[in-house]
Amino acid sequence: DTSTSPTTEGTIPSQSGAAAAAPTSHPGILSWVQEVAELTQPDRIHWCTGDDAEWTELTEALVASGTFTRLNEEKKPNSFLAQSDPTDVARVEDRTFICSVDEKDAGPTNNWMAPDEMKAVMTDLYRGCMKGRTMYVVPFVMGHLEADQPMFGVEITDSAYVVVSMKVMARMGSHVLRRMEELDAAGDDVHWVPALHSVGKPLAEGEQDVAWPCNDTKYIVQFPEERAIWSYGSGYGGNALLGKKCYALRIASVMARDEGWLAEHMLILKLTSPEGVVKYVAAAFPSACGKTNLAMLEPTIPGWKVETLGDDIAWMKIGDDGRLYAVNPEFGFFGVAPGTNELTNPNAMRTIDLGNSVFTNVALTDDGDIWWEGMENTPAHARSWKGQDWTPDSEELSSHPNSRYCTPIKQCPILAPEYDDPQGVPIDAILFGGRRKTTIPLVAEARDWTHGTFMGATLSSETTAAATGAVGVVRRDPMAMLPFIGYNAGDYFNHWITVGKDNDAAKLPRIFYVNWFRRDEDGGFLWPGFGENSRVLKWIVERIDGQAEAAETPIGHVPTPESLDVEGLDMTPEALAAALEVDVEEWKAEIPQIVEWFEKFGDTLPAVLWTELDGLKARLGA
Ligand code: GDP
Ligand code: PGA
Ligand code: MN
Repeated sequence: DTSTSPTTEGTIPSQSGAAAAAPTSHPGILSWVQEVAELTQPDRIHWCTGDDAEWTELTEALVASGTFTRLNEEKKPNSFLAQSDPTDVARVEDRTFICSVDEKDAGPTNNWMAPDEMKAVMTDLYRGCMKGRTMYVVPFVMGHLEADQPMFGVEITDSAYVVVSMKVMARMGSHVLRRMEELDAAGDDVHWVPALHSVGKPLAEGEQDVAWPCNDTKYIVQFPEERAIWSYGSGYGGNALLGKKCYALRIASVMARDEGWLAEHMLILKLTSPEGVVKYVAAAFPSACGKTNLAMLEPTIPGWKVETLGDDIAWMKIGDDGRLYAVNPEFGFFGVAPGTNELTNPNAMRTIDLGNSVFTNVALTDDGDIWWEGMENTPAHARSWKGQDWTPDSEELSSHPNSRYCTPIKQCPILAPEYDDPQGVPIDAILFGGRRKTTIPLVAEARDWTHGTFMGATLSSETTAAATGAVGVVRRDPMAMLPFIGYNAGDYFNHWITVGKDNDAAKLPRIFYVNWFRRDEDGGFLWPGFGENSRVLKWIVERIDGQAEAAETPIGHVPTPESLDVEGLDMTPEALAAALEVDVEEWKAEIPQIVEWFEKFGDTLPAVLWTELDGLKARLGA
């Protein structure tokens, strides 16, 4: 029965006149919106403009409904704290599916269901799921609107929290919709990704809403051939802000495979030496393993400067000059809050101090500011992320380990001006890294692109709170993309190998593998990390320019203790040696794990990766 479903005419709050009657002249978007409205039965449809009045209207409504607490205007202007349902705090990898037509295209690392079957299941869930709610239509673009091929999307969501967060994280609103209409009217074949999201909590007539609506049943689904996204049951960022992980990584990785580029889980930074030499570095670390911190690093070595281009996602394409150019498709930071402070990440602190931010699952101080574990000035009393009284003596944490700040990238005091260049920046070095207590040295340089691909393909890391499930378990997380590769990971490795083969090796970035997380016998970190990581960046740059020494080890080129700038570093020579050590026995123990990992991929694993493994075994004498 569609007679009760809303039409787009006359049902748009806070809009009037012609805009309300015909919110878009884009026939494809209009018909999709109508189709979804008929299925999900919202009370109202709101076409998002992305303007300040809309932000004010939505944030006020979120305060009124109890989802948001407004923070103290003097401390965090125009900023809000959300407390989620305690069960909806992270990405849900076991509920994430790649629904390719053919199961083998999802590969051994993704959950899969046939697209028709998944659509039948989810259509049942979506039927009537927006009753009592507003359906928001969010036109957005990942990357630049001025790009040669702008990467459009339209997210439909029944969550105002998602709309407000999308305004921070992506370029969105009327100007994007106007551009899509223009290109459509000009007959350009512009593609846009339909991205459907519902929290999965319809409201009965007169039913009081809860502060954080969600559903125990969750699905985060990508249809790679159709380039469509369906998400249900969660309000958490990685599950609900569909431009980010779902589009810019899972769907974009499929586009990148087809079109010969790379969509990667990488930060992008600009490094300037005291002599004024500029290098651009991209780095892939699994979630909660240090991307945001490295992207905003404050170097401890004199004269060096870091500027930020991105902290989570890089889209990289070979330019006319044969170099690999990277852009950050995002517009904000969605950073891990705990551990962020004036010492570890002062630039993140400056960014959030400017306000216009949404915090989720951190503590609220009595003076209306936010606080989390690891921040300075521990309050004597606060309200915890669960809404309970909290004091420094409390047994429970004040903030969830995966609590987040969501803040505009334009507020970052060290944002590189090149961020605004749709052509991106030429990458000099790619870093892979993870969280490993043992085995992996502070930094090792790959011998060439294929060896670097081997390092990426065998990347391992201890699991973190960024996804639900056990924390601290070592798993393979290739290129830090395990949860984000939108197709068969074996084919993905092959794509990396092909990029190396098809291009001039001398112009491609050099590849390095880093580990800031190695521990000593007492369980403490061997390497001080954070700003001190600039010493490793310096060594990397000097390697590229042929200046720094390295020891050749079975796993790659590792700094000699003398080649690393340790002036002023508070670290014993023994600790430094331990951080840099390549222990043959530890590495021999990795081999069977790598074999087991590679065997998963059968024929799809590029043979050269087996050759790389054989070479490693031979060098280890294993
Ligand atoms: P992202 O999710 O990859 O962006 O990770 P973040 O940069 O937000 O960091 C996640 C966690 O790792 C935070 O708790 C940081 O304090 C911690 N971290 C980041 N960089 C370092 C480092 O160099 N050393 C150590 N020991 N911890 C770090
Ligand atoms: P990140 O991603 O931890 O890699 O910053 C955010 C997420 O988990 O959704
Ligand atoms: Mn991050």
